[in-house]
Amino acid sequence: MSTRPIRLTINGHEYTGQVEPRKLLTDFLRDDLRLTGTHVGCEQGVCGACTILFNGDVVRSCLLFAVQANGAEIKTVEGIAPNATELHPLQEKFWALHGLQCGFCTPGILLTAEALLKETRNPSEAEIREWLSGNLCRCTGYQNIVAAIHEAAKTMNSAKS
Ligand code: FES
Ligand code: FES
Repeated sequence: MSTRPIRLTINGHEYTGQVEPRKLLTDFLRDDLRLTGTHVGCEQGVCGACTILFNGDVVRSCLLFAVQANGAEIKTVEGIAPNATELHPLQEKFWALHGLQCGFCTPGILLTAEALLKETRNPSEAEIREWLSGNLCRCTGYQNIVAAIHEAAKTMNSAKS
C-alpha cells in the first residue's frame, strides 16, 4: 500500500515518517511510535480510552486518521510528567487518592483533566464531572477521580502563587 509523509510534534519531540493513509491515529501512536499508554476500547468515539491532546484540544484518537495529524502538536500520557523522575500533580494525586483501579481509563482521564486545569484553575465538582462525561470508567465510581483532580488543582495553584 502507498504511504503518505507525516510530520508532527509528539510529547515535545518532532517526528517525520511515512504512514498508510487509512491508519488510525490510535494505531499509529501505539504500533508505529510504541506509545502504548494511549488505550483502545470502543474504537468508535464513545469510551474516551484513546483520548489525547491535539493542538491542546481533547480529542479521541480513534476517530482520526494519522495523516490528519500532519503538522499537529500531540500530547499523550507519556508526555504528561515534567521529566523522567517526577510525576505530574495529577498523576501523584491519582496515585495517592486511589483514582484508579484497573487503570484502563486512566491515561485518557489524565489528559482530559490536564486540559480542564489549563482552562479552569479551580473547577467545581460539577465542572469536573462535566469534563469527564466523555471518559468512561467501569471501576471507580468516579468519586476518587474527582477528588484527585480537585487536590491536583490545589497543588498546582499553590505552586503558582
Ligand atoms: S477507543 Fe476511542 S473513544 Fe473508545
Ligand atoms: S480504573 Fe478501570 S476503567 Fe477506570
